[in-house]
Amino acid sequence: MEDTLKALVSEAEEGIPSVHTRPEFEAFKARFVGPNGSLKEAMRDMAQVPKEDKPRIGQLLNKTKQALEAIFQTALDKIEAAELAAKLGDPIDPSLPSPDPAVGGLHPLTQVRNEIVRVLKSVGFIVAEGPEVETEHFCFDALNTPKDHPARDLQDTFYLPNDATVGNVSKHEDERYLLRTHTSTVQIRTMLEQEPPVRIISPGRCFRRDTTDATHSASFTQVEGLYVDKGVTVCDLKAILDFLMKSLLGNDAKTRFRPHFFPYTEPSFEMDAQSSHLAKVGKDWVELGGCGMVDPNVFKSVGYDPEVYSGYAFGFGIERIAMIMYGIDDIRYFYQNDYRFLKQFS
Ligand code: DAH
Repeated sequence: MEDTLKALVSEAEEGIPSVHTRPEFEAFKARFVGPNGSLKEAMRDMAQVPKEDKPRIGQLLNKTKQALEAIFQTALDKIEAAELAAKLGDPIDPSLPSPDPAVGGLHPLTQVRNEIVRVLKSVGFIVAEGPEVETEHFCFDALNTPKDHPARDLQDTFYLPNDATVGNVSKHEDERYLLRTHTSTVQIRTMLEQEPPVRIISPGRCFRRDTTDATHSASFTQVEGLYVDKGVTVCDLKAILDFLMKSLLGNDAKTRFRPHFFPYTEPSFEMDAQSSHLAKVGKDWVELGGCGMVDPNVFKSVGYDPEVYSGYAFGFGIERIAMIMYGIDDIRYFYQNDYRFLKQFS
């Protein structure tokens, strides 16, 4: 009996390699533990075992049963691993790291802003900040904007209620708080705080009372630049914008200035750019922003001597640049947080 049971276990062990499929496995198992299986037969033979041997042989039977169960499990594991590998196309290596989960990316506006900041920092500009809630003084007066300028109109600018208090921004009695309509406010704040030379850029949110459509949004992003020193000329302005545009739009980018008017610069220009990258998205010359030489009246408002210092300033809409760079035809995509849009930039 003992020999029979041992032989049964070795027979099962030797049989594992020939079991490849589930039907083969069932047949294999039945050979031992099925109704006519060899283990079942051995159990029937138990009746003939002398009484005194019964406990020992009984234990042996149990052990044999356990050994067989373990062998069956091994055979089944082998089949399941093969099935899974067939499903995945490759044998599984459980020591490999799991596939990377999808990770987020930076918003396209953040990417364009970071790139502009990186490029200008590389030539010595530093980032300056100013508040989004501003006063009429910083947004208009100090920037030489006449009292009757249309930008000040209620139709164009969001004013805060007269009794509003804004902790970190002080204002005169007769002034109103407003949401800044451009980042040019940071020019004034910076010049009041330091003596020339000044070389700053200031990216940030701006607000205008615009009705939202494909090219307008009541909240948008600009980047401002200001350089003040002795002997700064229009050539310097052209050079920095040329450099910036080549960095953003490719080495073959060209810039051109068209005469324009801004209260805070004289002369003032609108800057257009052209490049093969723009041609790819179907654009020829595109208008990208405003610029000019700082108006002497602006210097006077911050206590700089316009006879000693000169400077240039520029301001661009970041959405506009991003739209042109990526061929996006509706500004609203930037604010909808639609994953299908955003994931194209990650
Ligand atoms: N502030 C202007 C705007 O919002 C842009 C601008 C034009 C900024 C000329 C400047 C500048 O610094 O010199 O449209």
